[in-house]
This record gives sequence, structure tokens and C-alpha cells, in this order.
Amino acid sequence: MKKLLALLLVAAMSISMVACGGSASSSAASSEAGSEAASSEAASSDVKIGVCIYQFADNFMTLYRNDIKADLEALGYKEGTNFTMVDGANDQAKQTEQIDSFIAEGVDVLIVNLVQSTSASTIIEKAKAADIPVVFINREPTAEDLALYDKCCYVGADARQSGTFQGEIIAATENKGDFNGNGTVDYAMIMGDPENVDAQYRTEYSIKALEDAGLKVNKLYEQRADWDQTKGQENAANVLSQFNDEVDVIFCNNDAMAMGALQAIEAAGRKVGEDIYLVGVDALEEAVQAVAAGRMTGTVLNDDVSQAQTAVDAAVRYLKGEANDKNYTIDYVKVTPENAADYIK
Ligand code: BGC
Repeated sequence: MKKLLALLLVAAMSISMVACGGSASSSAASSEAGSEAASSEAASSDVKIGVCIYQFADNFMTLYRNDIKADLEALGYKEGTNFTMVDGANDQAKQTEQIDSFIAEGVDVLIVNLVQSTSASTIIEKAKAADIPVVFINREPTAEDLALYDKCCYVGADARQSGTFQGEIIAATENKGDFNGNGTVDYAMIMGDPENVDAQYRTEYSIKALEDAGLKVNKLYEQRADWDQTKGQENAANVLSQFNDEVDVIFCNNDAMAMGALQAIEAAGRKVGEDIYLVGVDALEEAVQAVAAGRMTGTVLNDDVSQAQTAVDAAVRYLKGEANDKNYTIDYVKVTPENAADYIK
């Protein structure tokens, strides 16, 4: 019965490969190479891939995990049979248990979005002892941690770049981020989880970009809102009631928090572009719409589609017994009213 299924799968895969054989783009070429590997893997053995997501409720990671699922399915892998995705519920102890179970089950490769980047070494040691390769995504382990095991790598984006782009978007505005004309960019920073390098770098580099553009800055407020829309809204409401017209810019480390901040800005009767600026990161659909409509100053594309494809390609290379580079970095892209239409899905 198993053999019959395997044969049917091979037949289905070769039909689908013939169907997409004419495509010339390089990403199609790389996923074709991937699907070749996967078809033989999926057909010849019971490949098992464990995918650990730090928190299903995260807006950006929801897009990302749906991309991973679609990419794996496009390669012929079936959820429940060849891959399983688990929700770490923002709890590292829980995620570590999930990884222990995947290891006990004998998965062939792990794709891991850590809850806490600082747990990378523990996870790497466990995987190494079981000889299971690991592709880390989204939350970056240190170079030191990655060096502990030849079969682990990281797929992500350089958060410094996203912060720099946020600052550059503000520096490029007509009044250079200074509505009240006091010669200073008076800003509030609404942060993601500060344990996460994405939050640290975006906070630092957005302001550095303003300073590099020769602007004076004044931090009015900086609080964590843990990547969360409701907390973003609450923090922005605090900022506006505490500082009112003094605030020129609200920087948010991600779009979920920026969407919350936008609610607070509009509820306070303020108008983005007229008396305040607002920037985020991710280019969530809602945020891109807001940028296109002038309700948000800008955002930065965090390319979930390319990151997911790159992570799946890396996992497939491990399945084939091939090596990966230590780091795969996907570029961020600035999204402003000029190009927002290109990023509406
Ligand atoms: C994204 C955030 C997300 C976080 C999760 C970041 O890269 O910009 O939206 O909450 O990753 O780790």
C-alpha cells in the first residue's frame, strides 16, 4: 500500500514538474531544483519535518508560516504526514518540549523560530546530539551559537537595514520629521520584545539614520509593546496624552504595533502627514493600504515570501545530505506612498 502511494506521488510530481518546466525565472528554477529533491525524498522515504513557530498569534509569523506550509506542499510534502507545525505560544519551556518530542520522533530536519534567541545553544546541542539539522528562522542565534554545529543555519533579514530605512523615510519628509519647528525630531519609540535583535536594531538604527542625516533627535518615550497591536495602541495613546503636540514621530518596530498606534493617533484627532509621522516594519497588507492612503508615513517590507522559500530550500538541502551556508539574508525594501501600490497583494 505504501509502495503504491509512493508510486502515485512520483507520478503526480512528474506531471506537475512537466507542467512548470517551461518557466524561466530564477526562483522558479530554484524551487524546481527543490521539488526534484523533495519528490525523490517524499517518494522514497517517510520524510518528517518539524516546524516550530514562536507564536501562532503573531501577525507576521502567521504570514510566514502559511508561506512555509505552501512551499512544503508545493514540493509534495503533506501536513501531518511529512511535516508538522507547532505553536510555541511564546513560551520557551513549551517550545523546548516540542523540540524534544520532534527529536524523540526522529524528524529528519527542524525549522525553528525560537521563542528566545538565547536558547539557541541549548536547542543546537540537543539537535547535534541526535544528528538532526536545524534551519533557524526570524529570531537570530549568535554567530557563536551557529558555529556549534555544522548542520545548522539561519535564514533572516538584517534588522539594522530595516531600522535605517525607517529613519531614512522620516529624514526624507518635507520638514525632516520636525512638525513643531523646534529644530529637533521629537520621537516616541514603541518596541517589540527587547530580547529580540530585530527590536534592538530597529530601535537603534532608525535613530542613527536620523543622526547620520544631520538631524537632532529627542527621545520622548520608549516602551516595549511586544510586537502586539493592542499594546501598540495603548502605548501610542499614552504617548499622545502625555506629550500631545510635542510628538513629531512615532516609530514602531513592526506594523502590528503601528496599526495600533494609528488607531490611537486617529482617536486623538491627529493626522499622519499633517501633524505627526508614523512608521512601521513588515509591510502587512493593512499597513501598505494605510501607506497608500497617506494614513501612515511608510513601512519596510520584511519579505516573508522569500524568507520562507529560502528556509524551505535550506531544509531540502539538508534532507539531501548537502551543506548550507551559515546565514541567508533577505533584503528589506522601503515602502512609501510612491511605491505602496506595488506591494498591495
Ligand atoms: C517582525 C515582527 C514579528 C517578529 C517575531 C519580526 O521580524 O517584524 O512583526 O513580530 O519578527 O519574531
